[in-house]
Amino acid sequence: MGTNQANNQKVAIITGGSSGIGYATSLLLARKGFYTYAPARNIDKSSSLQSIAEAERLPLRPIQLDVTDDSSVKAAVEEVVSEKGRIDI
Ligand SMILES: NC(=O)c1ccc[n+]([C@@H]2O[C@H](COP(=O)([O-])OP(=O)(O)OC[C@H]3O[C@@H](n4cnc5c(N)ncnc54)[C@H](OP(=O)(O)O)[C@@H]3O)[C@@H](O)[C@H]2O)c1
Repeated sequence: MGTNQANNQKVAIITGGSSGIGYATSLLLARKGFYTYAPARNIDKSSSLQSIAEAERLPLRPIQLDVTDDSSVKAAVEEVVSEKGRIDI
């Protein structure tokens, strides 16, 4: 078992994290201690989320993903599983 799988921190992926409901949900979960990935198509629009995460030292990371593109979804999920070894939410 690798280090990532031994870590009990729960992992969330919240699509649409750069604005609206996804933005609010990403911050809520990160503030509750979930390692939260916040995908959107255009990662440049995630600068506000990134700034808050850095200021509060939150476990939150914007990533690029288009939910209408299967290969993009597969690549993002593989990236998360490779980094964290789990997806809880
Ligand atoms: N706001 C409400 O009161 C409300 C009520 C009921 C239902 N809803 C529904 O909930 C959803 C979110 O609403 P919202 O108000 O939070 O919208 P929003 O502020 O426009 O946020 C949409 C988010 O989704 C991302 N996104 C859009 N298309 C995407 C795609 N193909 N792949 C990945 N990310 C994508 C956007 O970033 P990018 O553009 O960079 O991808 C953005 O981060 C919508 O489907 C809306 O119809 C909203």
